[in-house]
Amino acid sequence: MKSLENYWKYINDALNQKLQAGDFDEPKGLYEPCKYILQNGGKRVRASLVLLASKMFSNSYEQALPVALAFETFHNFTLIHDDIMDKAPLRRGIPTVHTKWDENTAILSGDAVMIIAYKFFEESGKYVPQLFRLLNKTALEVCEGQQYDVDLEVANLQDPIVSEETYLRMIELKTSVLIAACLKAGAIVGGASDNDADKLYEIGKMIGIAFQLQDDVLDTFGNEATFGKKIGGDIRVNKKTYLLIKALQTPQSTDKEQLIKLMSSTEFDEKTKYDHVVALYNKAHVKEQSIEKIEEYFQQAMRLVDEIQLPDERKGELIAFMNELVNRNY
Ligand code: IPE
Ligand code: IPE
Ligand code: MG
Ligand code: MG
Ligand code: MG
Repeated sequence: MKSLENYWKYINDALNQKLQAGDFDEPKGLYEPCKYILQNGGKRVRASLVLLASKMFSNSYEQALPVALAFETFHNFTLIHDDIMDKAPLRRGIPTVHTKWDENTAILSGDAVMIIAYKFFEESGKYVPQLFRLLNKTALEVCEGQQYDVDLEVANLQDPIVSEETYLRMIELKTSVLIAACLKAGAIVGGASDNDADKLYEIGKMIGIAFQLQDDVLDTFGNEATFGKKIGGDIRVNKKTYLLIKALQTPQSTDKEQLIKLMSSTEFDEKTKYDHVVALYNKAHVKEQSIEKIEEYFQQAMRLVDEIQLPDERKGELIAFMNELVNRNY
């Protein structure tokens, strides 16, 4: 993302330096997969948001580096385990950890990446207790969100749990609270007032929901080369995305019946299922409905940005990032 470009080199260099310091060398079976996920790209959204938020309230961002690395590393941990849970073969254009190695390796390396995140966190100076509470609360909420994701995945489509409301709550927990925590943590380290730090948290929640809605759109309608993940994964495993929930509200009963049949089984041929479901999604215009919803969250976030007690020029980077986020295809 262009708006975050300034932070990339700084984040990647710092992360590489830490990982090459010799603490994470042996056994290779444990640490190679850790380095593989941490050093092979990613947009670095979480780390960048910590730094960006910190800079909004002070003139520098260096003081927030340990926190930024901790949150980014925590995010990468969630991805290793998420890919096992979602049976995903590809991430960032390369095989997922459990595909390149095996599931046991991915479980243990994932655990190690989480602990590495906590180790990075140790260096956040006087803010450690406050930030620790925030990270721990967030980490548990992410687990809760992932559990709701599983509950929804296996739920029968007629089960009342399959609703727009549950879906939005699920993505708030699995994705948006982490983005929110990154902005809040950056603000805290940057010396923001409690009020502004809380406002950034709320902005992060809105942005994070928009971010996951867009991720779901890209999982079905994106391009593998730019998105870096296998397209159609959500359809393959019957994820209850916004797209599906909206498509099920279609007045055409035959379309609805077909959709229920297709999205209740994992036995169909992958390509045939994908093509059928996409045709039904297109007919119900669900991509457009998702984009409208994303726009709604974006507008809500923008209203909150207005309320932050800072001169406009201090908000420029955040606004640029938000604009990019709603238009991303990667
Ligand atoms: C992927 O996050 C997981 C979601 C919450 C959708 P990103 O899209 O930020 O993944 P990377 O780190 O840039 O690869
Ligand atoms: C990811 O949601 C949420 C977490 C990793 C906690 P997804 O399962 O949609 O993320 P991707 O699409 O695999 O990156
Ligand atoms: Mg996934
Ligand atoms: Mg998932
Ligand atoms: Mg996804």
